[in-house]
Amino acid sequence: MASPLDIFRGDLLAGHVALVTGGGTGICRGIAEAYARLGADVCITSRKQEVLDKTAAELRAATGRAVIGIAADVRKPDDIASAIKQTVDKFGKLDTIVNGAAGNFLSPAAALSPNGFKTVIDIDLNGSFNTARAAFEYLQKAGDGLVLNISATLHYHGTPLQIHASAAKAGVDAMTRNLAVEWGRFGIRCVGIAPGPIDDTEGMKRLAPGDVGDKARAAIPAGRFGAIDEIAAAAVFLRSHAAAYITGHVLVVDGGHCVATPPLGVSF
Ligand code: HXC
Repeated sequence: MASPLDIFRGDLLAGHVALVTGGGTGICRGIAEAYARLGADVCITSRKQEVLDKTAAELRAATGRAVIGIAADVRKPDDIASAIKQTVDKFGKLDTIVNGAAGNFLSPAAALSPNGFKTVIDIDLNGSFNTARAAFEYLQKAGDGLVLNISATLHYHGTPLQIHASAAKAGVDAMTRNLAVEWGRFGIRCVGIAPGPIDDTEGMKRLAPGDVGDKARAAIPAGRFGAIDEIAAAAVFLRSHAAAYITGHVLVVDGGHCVATPPLGVSF
């Protein structure tokens, strides 16, 4: 089957340098690979250096581009600032950050510990702020900066068992709009992608195992889960010059899931 990425010119992102948090696995690995395949230099970050080393080597082999992996916990501002500085030292600039690092699990609100709630807020929301804040001076210098926040559609409804992730992603979407307004004057766009259920991701393995996944699939107008490359294609478009006038917008890529009723198709 043809990849949705085939439509893009091979050198579309030549000259760009991107840092992708959560880039060791899943959706953000796919975005990192697509960016590199189209000519960008890429740094992927996550907590586990061994995962990053393996992924970076695979992406270098697959794309022929310089892909590096630097361990950094987005909850720790010094960690992510150091990863950003190392990326600039290595590639000479940074014009794109993709905030993809996320934690999640299913839990009833009444059973969720305060630290469980805080942990997901810290990773998804505070981590996205920490990364954007630390990258600001470089994005501004690049003159064509982009903050791409990966959120979700969970908070469009009262999604059961997801109070922590919903609250975090609602905050991320708010930040997309705030940064677009504040940083537009510095030549920085800030956009979001809200993926629906995507095949072959840790998130869906955890959140929709077995027949929960089958029910969720049946509730999607497109009749299937999405593919990682379909999110990566949206990320390429939003990075490209074709999206130069798009900022403050969150693009839903979910096969119509969030406009269907019921949106999730699970009982609890
Ligand atoms: C209830 C849990 C829990 C669970 C952790 N906690 N897992 N509570 N159910 N399954 C609680 C712990 O009990 C603890 O609180 C607190 O969270 C911190 O847990 P730790 O294990 O100490 O934290 P840490 O090592 O930092 O890692 C936790 C984690 C990790 C980051 C949340 O478990 C995780 O998320 N891994 C999966 C990553 C993932 O799948 N990412 C993709 C997300 S997809 P106490 O009170 O005990 O101290 C996504 C998209 C959604 O977000 C949209 C889909 C459609």
